[in-house]
Order: sequence, then structure tokens, then C-alpha cells
Amino acid sequence: MEIKTINGLLDKMWTDYVAINPLAQKIHDLFTSEGEEILNDHIALRTFNHPRVTIDVIAKPFIEAGYKYGGDYHFVDKKLYAKHYEHPNKDLPKIFISELKLQDFSPELQKTVNALVEQMPAALEYKYDFTSIGRPWTVSTETYNQLLKESDYAAWVAAFGYRPNHFTVFINNLKKFSDITFLNNYLKEHGIKLNASGGEIKGSKEVLLEQSSTLANNIAVEFSDKKIDVPACYYEFAKRYPMANGELYSGFVAASADKIFESTSKGQ
Ligand code: NI
Repeated sequence: MEIKTINGLLDKMWTDYVAINPLAQKIHDLFTSEGEEILNDHIALRTFNHPRVTIDVIAKPFIEAGYKYGGDYHFVDKKLYAKHYEHPNKDLPKIFISELKLQDFSPELQKTVNALVEQMPAALEYKYDFTSIGRPWTVSTETYNQLLKESDYAAWVAAFGYRPNHFTVFINNLKKFSDITFLNNYLKEHGIKLNASGGEIKGSKEVLLEQSSTLANNIAVEFSDKKIDVPACYYEFAKRYPMANGELYSGFVAASADKIFESTSKGQ
């Protein structure tokens, strides 16, 4: 069925995401069984700054649905730039889109990524459900491993293409689990491993945002030559604090997200 509405698109993005991250469904079900109703704080998407697939191109269906630009972020070490978008309807998740700054990498990496993007049929990037289309190119394990040497992020996008990298539970909307330490402990008691890079809790009340996340699960991905296990997606948890004006902070904290990006690093 062709997707035409923002809710249809968000539903499809969730379905695609849990298909390769069954742990997220398991955690979702755990909270539901505790009587919680889950709202998503944000959904994260990844891309390259190649002109066909920039943040602005990826953001198109969200802008059309009434989302507005909410802020931008620089990740110097990871060579990323990101923007977030939010909707007047606060029940809709924020959309966080990052792009890899290709010009900051080797000519080989740039050539490889350009060749991947150019495999896409004309105008594919304007398909309404492009953000859940999956990998729109073929790629070998050799290319994947080559990209991995320079950037986990480039390798991830090469392997998975266009689909959510993570969904994020909005902790403020939970009744029993409104404390992030309590929530983390509950998950660990249920055998769920958390990303401990930079500490389990990224951010603080002082910066108005606390986040934690699971580690990305490894899944078998079919490349053009063979299938190998690679880190896929993770599930995130975010608690927001009010600003001086009483409204909840709706932005992101670059220093925290920098560590969260490492949830999809190989070797974790
Ligand atoms: Ni996030």
C-alpha cells in the first residue's frame, strides 16, 4: 500500500526499525506490560551531504506535514552536521537528521559514497517514504570494511541506507519510569545491555536533557558478495527538563549525542 500520510510514514518507519531491532519491540512491550503508554521523543535519521540526499532533501515529507526547523548541531570529531525538526502537535516525535560532511574525508571515501548515491534511480529521494526505503544501492563487504576504517557512520549508512537509526522513548511521559537511573536499572535487570561510552547517562539536568541507549544489536546483512554481521540500530531514552520560561527544552546536546553515535560502533 502506498504511504501518503505522516502517521502512515511514521508507522512504517517503526515497523522497519523493529524488523532489524527486535530488542526495541521487546523493550516497548516491557513498558506496555507495566502499564506505560510510549511516546517517542525523536527519531534519528542518517545521511550524507551529497546534494541528492542532504538533510533538506530527507526532511521534505516532514516539512510538508507541518514540521518546523528546531535547531542545528555540529559534531566536529565525527564530521557531522545535524538539524532537528519538531511538530506543533507534541505527540509527534521530533525528527533528528544528521549528514556526514564528505569533504572532510579522503578522496577515496568521497568517491565511494558518491558512487553509491549515484546508483539510485532518478528522483528516488523524492519518494514519500524514502526515509524507510532501506538500502537503495548494492555494496560489497570490501567497500563496507573500507568505509569502516574512516567512519562507522559512513559504513552504517552504506549498509542500511534510509531507515531510522533509532527511536527514542520520551521518559517524561512514563509514569513509573520517570527517573532515568531507575529506568536504566530496570532494563539491566531484564538483561538489556546499555551503551556505557561516556557513562550510561549522557547529559544532565543542568543541560536540560538526559539520555541513555541500548547498544546496537548485530544483524546479518546481505552484501553483494556475502552476508556478514554488522551493528544495526539501538533504542534510546530521553528525559527533558524545563527551561527558565517553564517550557521543556526541545533541543539536543551535541556533547551527549556525540557519545550516543558510538552505540553503532563495531567492537562495542
Ligand atoms: Ni537520539
